[in-house]
Amino acid sequence: MLIVGNWKAYVETLEKAKRLYAVAKRLAAAGHHEIVIAPSAPHLGFLAGGNRSSVEFAAQDISSSLGGAATGEVTAGAVAGVGATYVIVGHSERRAAGETDALVLQKVQHALAHGLVPILCIGERERDAEARYLAHLRTQISLILTALSPQERKKIVVAYEPIWAIGKSATEAITPTDLNEMVLYIRKILTEFLPGKGASKINILYGGSVESGNIRALAAASSIDGFLVGHASTDAASFGALVKAVT
Ligand code: 13P
Repeated sequence: MLIVGNWKAYVETLEKAKRLYAVAKRLAAAGHHEIVIAPSAPHLGFLAGGNRSSVEFAAQDISSSLGGAATGEVTAGAVAGVGATYVIVGHSERRAAGETDALVLQKVQHALAHGLVPILCIGERERDAEARYLAHLRTQISLILTALSPQERKKIVVAYEPIWAIGKSATEAITPTDLNEMVLYIRKILTEFLPGKGASKINILYGGSVESGNIRALAAASSIDGFLVGHASTDAASFGALVKAVT
């Protein structure tokens, strides 16, 4: 499984970042899945720069600009340069801050151009009785994949993060049965863009209140390839317990 810890802005001290990195290193060394951590940009630079372990690094976001006169922007080139291999793109917390699908596409393209694997976040705000949320997800995926070449499409990871499930507790997360349906649905959309066995090779992650108490059931009931974990990845004991729960 691919388990990505999105530290968001929960981790502000370097001491805490180092402690969490040490936990991630132990989990990765024990062969507990592919462990990726996504610290804040300063901590990413500090930790990834000296990384000699099998932990991999993701940026939480990149700029839609390619550099130059763009004060405050963190570019794909800059995060790739310090050793990140993934980047989270289109997270709902970025979209809520005004990020459009057009900007998400630019970021995906910049990531790919710099050899980074984009983790494309999609997800509905709420579920409606008419199931319009399914069309919303299809649009979010299609707008990006249509613009990519067949080779580029193979390089992305899709993270399904329903907004209604983010930042709550395991009891309010998606049910294993619903997750199974959503993974099948997303995989079906991907087959329209990746013929043959292409779509089956794309990693689909789930994010939204994944904790040690629900990760095993979510993994067991669906063909999910991994998880994008928020708050539970920012506590050393919780993250360790969560990863071990699916080992
Ligand atoms: P939580 O695990 O805190 O719900 O966050 C999920 C998420 O947004 C990960 O990117």
